[in-house]
Formats: sequence, C-alpha cells, structure tokens
Amino acid sequence: MNATLDQTRVDAFGATLADTINRAGLALMISLGHRTGLFDTMARLPAATSDAIATEAKLSERYVREWLGAMATGNIVEFDPDQRTYRLPAEHTALLTRAATPNNFAAAMQWVAVLGHVEDAVADAFRHGRGVPYSAYHRFHEVMAEESAQTVVAVLFDQILPLVPGLMDRLATGIDVLDIGCGSGRALAAMAARFPRSRFTGYDASPEGIAAAAAEAKKRGLANLRFAVQDVAALPERGAFDLVTAFDAIHDQAQPDAVLRNVAAALKPGGIFLMQDISGSSHVHLDKSHPFGPFLYTISCMHCMSVSLANGGPGLGAMWGKDVALRMLAAAGFGPVRVESLPHDPLNFFYITTPAR
Ligand SMILES: C[S@@+](CC[C@H](N)C(=O)[O-])C[C@H]1O[C@@H](n2cnc3c(N)ncnc32)[C@H](O)[C@@H]1O
Repeated sequence: MNATLDQTRVDAFGATLADTINRAGLALMISLGHRTGLFDTMARLPAATSDAIATEAKLSERYVREWLGAMATGNIVEFDPDQRTYRLPAEHTALLTRAATPNNFAAAMQWVAVLGHVEDAVADAFRHGRGVPYSAYHRFHEVMAEESAQTVVAVLFDQILPLVPGLMDRLATGIDVLDIGCGSGRALAAMAARFPRSRFTGYDASPEGIAAAAAEAKKRGLANLRFAVQDVAALPERGAFDLVTAFDAIHDQAQPDAVLRNVAAALKPGGIFLMQDISGSSHVHLDKSHPFGPFLYTISCMHCMSVSLANGGPGLGAMWGKDVALRMLAAAGFGPVRVESLPHDPLNFFYITTPAR
C-alpha cells in the first residue's frame, strides 16, 4: 500500500462505494416492486409469507422471495425469521405505493432502469460526442408520464397554478393555453377537465407521446383539448396564447434559445409563461448541496444533455440551472422573472414571467 495514503480515508471511501452498489441494487429492485405492484400488495397485507404475498400479487413465488430478500437485507421490509413473514412498515408504505402519490419514490426509481437500457449508446457517445437520440430510450414517455402525475398533476390546482395570482379564475372564465413538450399530456388533460371554458393545445415532437395524449383525451371526452406533433423550435403561432406552460421541457431542447423566443412571440400581450425546470444552480460547487445532485447530473448525462446533442443542440443538460435559465429568458425577450420552489418537488424550480414587449 502507498505510504502516502491516508488509510482511514481509503476505508471510508470503500464503505461509501459498498453502500453505493447496495443502494444501486435496491433502486432496481424498488423499481421492480413498483412495476409488479408488490409494494401496493404488501401495503394491503399484514405480515405475510412469500407464498401469501406472491398469491395476492399473482406473481411467481420464487421471484417474489428473492425480491423480498433484497428488500429485507436492505431494511425496506421487516422479516420475522420464526414466522418467515415479511411486512412493509406503514412509514415505508407512505413513500413506496401508488396511493402515496405525489410521494411515491418507487415510481422515480424506474429512471435507473431506463438509463441502464442506454448505457452502451451513452458510452459510445462519450467517444463520438454526438449524443443519443430520444428514439433510443425504452419506456421514457411511460415513466415520464408517471413522474408528471406526481410532480405536476397531483399538485396542479392546489399549488402550481396558484403560483400565478388570478390564474385559476382566468382559466375558469376561459383562456387559450399551450403546453410545449407536453409528452403524454397528463397536465393538460387535468386542466382541460377542470376548466371546460378554456382551450388547451399540447405540442410535442414525439409521435408516441402525442398518440398517448390524444388517446387519453378522447377516452375522457375532452373537446377543449387538442394535441399535435410539432417541433416547438418552429412554433407557428404569434400572439395566440394567454398562458404557455413548459413542464421539464426546456433544458433538453436542441434549440432552447429559439424555443424561448417562440414562446415569448406566441403569447398575447401580458400573457404568462410558467416554466417548471430542474433546480440546479448553474454552479457545480453549489449543486454539491443539492439533495439530488448526483442523480440529476446522471440523468442529465445519460438523457437530457444527450438528446439535445443528438439533435445538434448545445446539450444544456438538466443542471443548466437558475443563472443560465434567467439569462436565457431575458435574451429571449421576457421581463422580470419570479422563481418559486414548492415543498413537494425539490427537483424543480417554477419560473413565472411575461414577455417584456
Ligand atoms: C422531459 S420530457 C417532459 C414531458 C412532459 N412535459 C411531462 O412533464 O411529462 C420533455 C419533452 O419535450 C419533448 N421535446 C423535446 N424537444 C422538443 C421539440 N423541439 N419540440 C417539441 N417537443 C420536444 C420531448 O419529446 C419530451 O416529451
């Protein structure tokens, strides 16, 4: 061993790495617990054997037992070795089930598997530098829709829209609303159902996202809602909307500056731009204190930055941060910007502004 090494520091770092690989494994298993419905099942059951849990969940007992091994050794479920029963404590249920939305961490764990699916392509991109296209990602829109249900839809009427004084009343009276990069359109569908006098448009470049959004709107009979496949870097409307929203849809753009200019132009005079975007600071040393810093830089490198680069964009990355966002909003023609945080969503800031003209 090198005599200049501080062995205590080496040992501490080794313990950190051991903890990291254990937790990485748990992240995948928690994702599986979400996808298979096992957490929802366990929340309904008292302490139960792997047989009883598998029967209730309609799953293979052998798989369920191995999964429970990970959950028990990871202190996510409690195991009674005498009774051979497993129990999900109420305090963990509160953060792992569909009923726990918007606090369901298990849904967010799916991102680890989504990113793992593109590891080969991202490793290649480290060498050629040309990014990884949206089309390479598996289950992206499905997982994003679940995230939107948690971080946006669940608190849309109680917390997000009230950030703009009077906006709920204007929506009730009837205004024109555009959501850019709307993905599967869950936020718009919720607004269209709640405010039948307003008119809602959703644009996304993804035919898959728009197909899911349009199918849902049709199923719910929402006549005041339309979706279209549209590159928002070439947004055609001018002075057409009272409100434009962008939920987590600016930082991964190929032409974010053009998109922001288009939003300013598409708004009516006095119209509002409400932008939810990742709560980075624009400075790595400040991001060190962000509770999700490593995860956000990871998802940025393996998705947000990569999809922008793949389309010839600047690759702003998810952690472009507040300083850069404010600079770009000003350059695009917006006036003063209010930046808000909401307690349910430490991952994002909410920017509220109007065109300066
Ligand atoms: C991170 S996702 C957010 C989706 C949605 N707003 C939500 O919260 O679930 C970003 C979305 O922006 C879309 N997008 C990216 N570039 C676009 C462009 N130039 N025009 C339209 N949509 C775009 C992607 O297809 C994707 O659905």
